[in-house]
Amino acid sequence: AQQTPKKKLTVRLCGPRGFCAGVDRAIQIVVLALKKYGAPVYVRHEIVHNRYVVEGLQERGAVFIEELDEIPPEHRECPVVFSAHGVPKSVPADAVARNLFYLDATCPLVSKVHKQAMRHHRLGRHVLLIGHEGHPEVIGTMGQLPEGTVTLVENVEGALALTPPTGVELGFVSQTTLSVEDTADILKALEHRFPQMHAPAAESICYATTNRQEAVKMAAPGADLFLIVGAPNSSNSRRLVEVAERAGAKHSLLVQRASEIPWGEIGEIGVLGLSAGASAPEIIVNEIIDAFAERYDVSVELAVTAEETENFPVMRALRDVELTNA
Ligand code: F3S
Repeated sequence: AQQTPKKKLTVRLCGPRGFCAGVDRAIQIVVLALKKYGAPVYVRHEIVHNRYVVEGLQERGAVFIEELDEIPPEHRECPVVFSAHGVPKSVPADAVARNLFYLDATCPLVSKVHKQAMRHHRLGRHVLLIGHEGHPEVIGTMGQLPEGTVTLVENVEGALALTPPTGVELGFVSQTTLSVEDTADILKALEHRFPQMHAPAAESICYATTNRQEAVKMAAPGADLFLIVGAPNSSNSRRLVEVAERAGAKHSLLVQRASEIPWGEIGEIGVLGLSAGASAPEIIVNEIIDAFAERYDVSVELAVTAEETENFPVMRALRDVELTNA
């Protein structure tokens, strides 16, 4: 019997997509620590929010924990890496108290937000942190300052209902991985209520978040379906799903692997938008294109809005390993 020809599908592939410089650095730190010190290397919290990455590192000898007391006494000499999302000040302090050797893989752009929050505090300001409750980055940023000196603002309603302490100036910072548009709305509400509020000296939302959202915005109009490769706990990936729908994609979904694509629900599609969150590896983007190519006559079109050249070097303690393995 003659095979019916495959239907045509245009895949609009966004650029930039996938790994950012902070994620790349964090993964490198674990890999280099394994090379230099041998297994096990402990990692506090998922180094980046991606199962594939975490499992790959586990296979090489990384052991993921949530708290430092999970490190058995006989492994106190082994390094422990803090994730890219950053940690409250109490965590390195606790590591020192326990005599542990730690490597901090906090993204330098998250550290920059920490510094801005500390600067507000030093200048006597109460800090407003725009972000999502419970996200490790938010916990880390709040944990830079004494309790009660930071208030979390999650959305416009939160901004409108906010009752900050009186008699002190206000300064804001935000999580690095928020929706650019939502944050602008929240800020507008805050500025309207607190016109004297101080901005941070530098933008908190990072270049990678901004660039990935811009590319999705460009690719979304007219897309029948938009897939974002990313994990459900990845803030920046989830924002990309929202951005795609707002910018005109008919439907948008977060998928971790090609096996999660709900083929039965896709229906008739002619244009597929595709991008990946900052913690999602390129190999999964390729896996997804291949899965579509099995079912459709695929042609890939690029939707590129920026070139990224950012590169964050690893800490000095690991640079010799990098060089000898170059
Ligand atoms: Fe850093 Fe932004 Fe990536 S804060 S870890 S460069 S998403």
